[in-house]
Parts: sequence; C-alpha cells; structure tokens
Amino acid sequence: MNGKTLSRLAVLLGLGVLVASCDIDRPPVETIQRGFRGDGQVQVNNPRVYAAAFAEQQIPDSAPPADPDGPRAKDVFENVQVLGDLSTTQMVRVMVSMAAWVTGGEGCSYCHVIENPALDVKYPKVVARRMLQMVRYINSHWTDHVAQTGVTCYTCHRGNPVPKNLWFANPASTPSATFTGWHEQQNSTLPSYVQPGKLLPSAALGALPVDPFSMYLQGSENIRVQALNALPMNGMGASIQQTEWTYSLMTIMSKSLGVNCNYCHNTQSLQSWKESSPTRATAWYGIRMVRSLNNNFEASIDRVLPPNRHGPMGDNPKIYCATCHNGVFKPLYGISMLKDFPELKGDPEQVQDYLTWKTPQPPPADYLKAQAEAQAQAAQAVPAVAPAAAQ
Ligand code: HEC
Ligand code: HEC
Ligand code: HEC
Ligand code: HEC
Repeated sequence: MNGKTLSRLAVLLGLGVLVASCDIDRPPVETIQRGFRGDGQVQVNNPRVYAAAFAEQQIPDSAPPADPDGPRAKDVFENVQVLGDLSTTQMVRVMVSMAAWVTGGEGCSYCHVIENPALDVKYPKVVARRMLQMVRYINSHWTDHVAQTGVTCYTCHRGNPVPKNLWFANPASTPSATFTGWHEQQNSTLPSYVQPGKLLPSAALGALPVDPFSMYLQGSENIRVQALNALPMNGMGASIQQTEWTYSLMTIMSKSLGVNCNYCHNTQSLQSWKESSPTRATAWYGIRMVRSLNNNFEASIDRVLPPNRHGPMGDNPKIYCATCHNGVFKPLYGISMLKDFPELKGDPEQVQDYLTWKTPQPPPADYLKAQAEAQAQAAQAVPAVAPAAAQ
C-alpha cells in the first residue's frame, strides 16, 4: 500500500465518520410546499421516520360510554374530590381507563389499597388526583392550543407511570467556577438530563446550550432576539447567549414536533409574525401553556414524589413540547381521545380553583396505627439478630 492510497483511505474514513456523526436523512425524502410558491416555506419529510413515528402513535380502544344518569360519585363514595360531579358508572369508567393508561400494567393497585380505595396512602393516587385537575384545566382553559382535540392521560403517559419525554434542571447549566464563565455543555457528548440516560438530540454534538428549558419553559424570559433595525439604535440588542438559548429552544421545539423551522417561520424573517404560518401562533400559546403546567401543577406534585423520581439537582420532573407531542406535529396525529372522555373536560370557571393545590391530607391515624402494628408483628416473627448458638 503506497502513501497515496493510505491518504485516500484516511480521507474516506474521515468522510465516513463525518456522515455517521451527522443527523443526515438518507434519500429519498419528500418535500411539501407550505407557503406561497417561491417563498421557500418547504417541509422536508422523511417517510421512514414518519412510518416509525406512526407506529408509536396508535391509540388504545376506549371503554364504551357510561350512563351519565344515576347517583353522583361524591354522594356514593367517601373521598372523591375531583370527579364527584360524575355518575358512579362514569367515574368507574375513568378508573378503568386510568389503570390502562398510566400504570404499566399493574392496574388499580398501583394507586389503591384494594381493601379500601378511599385511602390516600399511595403517592400515585395523590398525584393522579392532581393530574385529573391538570387535564381538566388543559382541556377547558387552553383550547387556544389543544383546540377541541384536547388531551387525556394517554397523550403523555402512553401506558407508563413516567412519561417518556421530560426534563430536569441540568447540573452543567450553572456559572462555572473557572474563568470560562457559563458552562452549557456546548459541543459536549455528555448525557443530558433532559431525557435521563439519553443524549438530548439538539445538544448532542451540536454547539447549542443544553438547557433553554429553565428560562423559557419554567421562567418567562422574552424570546425576542432579532433586531428590528439595520444599525444598533438605543443601547444593546440581545446578547449572544440569549440568541444561542433561543436557537436551542427552537431546535428542541422542532425536534419535539418532527418539523423544520419553516413549519412556523418564513426564514426570510424569523421575527415577522405577518409572514409566519398560523402554526406559530399555536406554538406561542403552547409555550405559555407549558409554563403554566410546570409552575402550577408539576411543581406542586413535588411534595409527594419520592426521591427516586427527582432529577440530579433534586428538582421535580417537568413538561416540554415532546411530553405530549412525542415527535409528531399534533399528538397522536390529531386524533381526539377526549371526544370519548367528556369526563376529562372541566367547567372553565371551576378549573381556575385548580391552580392552587390544597396540601394533601395525611394518611388517617387508624391506618397508620394498623401499619405500625403489622410492622411490629413482622419484626417479632423474624428475629432481627440470630439467636446465639448453644454452648
Ligand atoms: C392512576 C391512579 C389510579 C388508578 C390506576 C385507579 N384509581 Fe381509583 N382513584 C384514583 C383517584 C385519584 C381517586 C379519587 C378521585 C377524586 O378525588 O376525584 C380514585 C377513587 C376511586 C374510588 C372511590 C373510593 C372512595 O370511596 O372514595 C374507587 C371505588 C376507585 N377509585 C376504584 C378504582 C378501580 C376499581 C380501579 C381499577 C380498575 C382504580 N380505581 C384505578 C386513582 C386511581
Ligand atoms: C401533559 C402531560 C401529562 C398528562 C396529560 C398527564 N400526566 Fe401524569 N405525569 C406527568 C409528568 C411529567 C409526571 C411526573 C413523572 C414522575 O412521576 O416521575 C407525571 C406523573 C404521574 C404519576 C406518578 C407516577 C409515578 O410512578 O411516579 C401518576 C400516577 C400520573 N402521572 C397519573 C396521571 C393521570 C391519571 C393522568 C390523566 C388524568 C395524567 N397523569 C396525565 C405528565 C402528564
Ligand atoms: C412550532 C413552531 C416553531 C418552530 C418549528 C420554530 N419556531 Fe422559532 N418561534 C416560534 C414562536 C412561537 C416564537 C415566538 C416565541 C415567543 O414570543 O414567545 C419564535 C421565535 C423565534 C425567534 C425569535 C424571533 C424574534 O422576534 O427575535 C427566532 C430567531 C426563531 N424563532 C428561530 C427559529 C429557528 C432557527 C427554528 C428552527 C430550528 C425555529 N425558530 C422553529 C415558533 C417556532
Ligand atoms: C398538554 C399537551 C401538549 C403540550 C405540552 C404541547 N402541545 Fe402542541 N398540541 C397539543 C394538541 C392536543 C394539539 C392539537 C390541536 C389541534 O388538533 O388543532 C397541538 C398542536 C400543536 C401545533 C399545531 C400543529 C398544526 O399542524 O396545526 C403546534 C405548532 C404545536 N402544538 C406546538 C407546540 C409547542 C411548540 C409546544 C411546546 C412549547 C407544545 N406544542 C406543547 C398538545 C400539546
């Protein structure tokens, strides 16, 4: 092998590594015109990616509708605080569906002590009550985003106790003690905590900060970076960091929905609303909705979640676009499960009360006493220390 062949091989190998490490879609890909001809608003779709995503968006069969007449759940059962306005058959139908949507196959006992379902002693039941409030709030207050399509528990949970796409505060996004200032894991391949154990798609091998979430999807920093004038006018424009964080957020939004930037923007001017498509306005409401869900609902369940559900910084799990969207432009491709579950739409007035959460009741004293007695008995049955061997 001569030197020339060797250097050719090296070039080929280099190219191979480059291609393998880039997020390139193998042809053929489809393009769809989304704006006026010639304005460049084209979506690039990869049919293989869509086929895989489609397989993940199948919805389970709904239980047949329940009779809305008959006694109210709150008059029959002991401890029904949210679903009390439903008939008992409607309430039990919601229970059966929740067992299929969020327990990973465990069923009623994931939330209930079967002997007495009125007890609030298992934390998933307490969280589920808060989730019922959240879902009713989304479906009646945020129709500017979710329209009449709405959401159910299945939209985020897909059968699992913990939704697949969540985010946590990132240990890297703190001002570093060194001279390099903020360290945002840029250009790094370290795992991000957005999806525990997985690389964050946008930040993996990219040069964007890994955590735009805290600022924009929990905090309400302005998402405005483009200057409206050719030359600097009064004072400074947006900083480079703000711009990077904005682009990081936008990349994550695009990935969450499986779309390009021009699904919402005309890239001639990313700022101009006049030239943007109506989906951008839907996304604008989406950003506000996510902030509200994280601050009013997710933050409150923190009180009852066990430590193993927290992130590396000890914070509670939080929602972003992919929590519902799971990689497609409308969750479940826009098929509405809510139309089969009118029980999950709240009265718009009543849901305002859900924004604050009363501290959950501690488990009843007689239950705690019985638990302590059972534990004491178990301790007596098995001696803690092995008896000394006979001399
Ligand atoms: C994901 C958690 C979860 C699952 C799974 C679940 N439940 Fe429930 N259940 C709740 C919550 C929360 C309430 C209280 C609702 C409220 O306050 O409006 C409740 C209330 C009840 C009550 C009323 C108890 C009382 O007297 O106050 C009954 C009965 C019940 N569930 C039965 C079931 C059955 C049967 C199943 C299985 C098919 C089931 N539940 C599955 C969370 C769950
Ligand atoms: C917008 C997304 C979303 C929707 C809709 C949603 N949840 Fe959740 N749920 C979450 C997130 C985020 C968590 C926190 C994950 C964790 O516990 O680690 C969570 C946690 C839970 C948990 C605790 C599970 C555990 O093992 O820690 C239960 C139970 C639950 N949800 C039930 C429900 C029920 C019942 C509904 C429908 C009434 C529902 N959720 C709707 C996002 C959602
Ligand atoms: C799903 C819709 C959507 C997608 C996809 C999207 N954006 Fe955005 N973008 C928005 C919305 C909404 C805002 C305004 C946010 C606000 O004001 O809260 C925005 C704002 C911006 C801004 C700030 C504009 C200003 O006024 O200074 C820039 C820059 C931007 N987007 C770039 C991008 C880029 C680059 C991509 C692709 C990587 C992208 N966007 C993908 C919806 C989207
Ligand atoms: C609570 C669940 C949920 C969350 C979280 C969520 N969305 Fe949505 N989104 C929906 C639903 C449901 C629809 C379908 C509404 C309809 O049928 O018109 C939708 C529709 C959209 C659309 C319109 C798509 C189209 O083709 O018309 C855009 C754009 C969008 N979402 C962007 C976002 C962005 C960006 C975020 C994060 C900032 C986000 N969504 C977070 C539930 C959610």
